[in-house]
Amino acid sequence: MTTVLHRAEFGADFIWGTATAAFQIEGATITDGRGASIWDTFSQKRGAIKTGENALMACDFYHRYATDIALNKAMGFTAFRFSISWSRVLPQGTGRVNEAGLAFYERVIDECIRQGQTPWVTLFHWDLPQALEDRGGWANREVLVWFGEYVTLMVKAFGHKVTHWFVLNEPSAFTILGYLVGMHAPGRRSFTSIPAVIHHAALAQADGGRIIREHVPGAVVGTTFSCSPVDAISPLKRDVQAAQRANALLNRLFIEPALGLGYPTQELPFLKSIEKRFAKPGDRERLAFDFDLIGLQHYFRVVVEHSMLVPYLWGRDVSPNRRRVEAVTEMGWEIHPTSMLQIIRQFSLYDGPHRWIVAESGAAFYDQVEQGQVIDTARTAYHVQCLQQVRQAKADGIDLAGYFVWTLLDNFEWAEGYRPRFGLVHVDHRTQHRIIKQSGQWFRHFLTG
Ligand code: NOJ
Repeated sequence: MTTVLHRAEFGADFIWGTATAAFQIEGATITDGRGASIWDTFSQKRGAIKTGENALMACDFYHRYATDIALNKAMGFTAFRFSISWSRVLPQGTGRVNEAGLAFYERVIDECIRQGQTPWVTLFHWDLPQALEDRGGWANREVLVWFGEYVTLMVKAFGHKVTHWFVLNEPSAFTILGYLVGMHAPGRRSFTSIPAVIHHAALAQADGGRIIREHVPGAVVGTTFSCSPVDAISPLKRDVQAAQRANALLNRLFIEPALGLGYPTQELPFLKSIEKRFAKPGDRERLAFDFDLIGLQHYFRVVVEHSMLVPYLWGRDVSPNRRRVEAVTEMGWEIHPTSMLQIIRQFSLYDGPHRWIVAESGAAFYDQVEQGQVIDTARTAYHVQCLQQVRQAKADGIDLAGYFVWTLLDNFEWAEGYRPRFGLVHVDHRTQHRIIKQSGQWFRHFLTG
């Protein structure tokens, strides 16, 4: 692999953008009639956010969207991915529409278009309306009706301006972390409801795809998955089996039902209760949808060993710490030089005419402002390394449509608060002052030459 990268090697129509999410950047959580989401509630719980922070202000994108989109443009990007906060447009999740919320997203979309930035809309990036959580949230099958109403409202409102749509962001993350592990909103830890939560999210994913396709002629309909290559710590059978279970949970859980392959029940027997208790006639067909584009979001690899403590579901993730890995990010995630390529190759083996896109890629590092500059060489190196792997995947013949950097702005990193910084643009969260980091300058140079 040569280390030098040229934009032209990726092709003239390769998409270059940054990705964001409503709750992480917007702020204005009690402004203009927005209803509460599960993340508003969760961040008020003592100890839920490690730093005790909240997203009341976040990056104040609600008021600064025009200049933030201009920053995206200044770095040479031509695509901007953002999500819609469901409770901003439907404060109770269903029923009454908040016109001010609709107007905000209309302004964001118009501003993107005015500045030559293609808007890529994610419909659900984890911030379920609290009113719906109060009615059971993702564990209640009614969520399919609520989600259908919300998606229909969005495509009717914006389908004439927005062509690129992602239905869900990382369903395995928000279901497992939110409803089983309890580390994310709504902070539930329930073995009994997790199969239902998974099933409803998988159905919503396909339903959402169908609604977009029905209402938006020419739409590019996508959804996004978190993904991690999983290795066993040793060739011992029990470690290999633990790795297979982890792979099923982390990588196969949501794409396989969408492809009509059903759930990976052999590796994850707890999913059998979906069939037994939660599925309705016709669900297997309803789970399938032929997405135009699958978004892959890769941040770390996982190394697993068998564990007596959690043998059934998972095995134990052997932390980079214990493996004495030297290069880790601020999240403690190992920087592994080939894992992006590995996981893209793994996904590309699925049958079917698939286009892929790196819908998020990025890393958190400790950044320092010195004389008005942020020299984040590690972040630049990280993206270069990822892009080399993307280039290789394309050379292998994999149809990869683009690369979205996670993320435009340092923002609210969920349960971690503001401490981990992933942005190409540094944000001082007290003053809201922005500085394009050296990594952002690198992209500007790379993209605009
Ligand atoms: C994936 C999620 O989609 C995003 O919201 C999060 O900030 C990044 N991972 C980094 O953890």
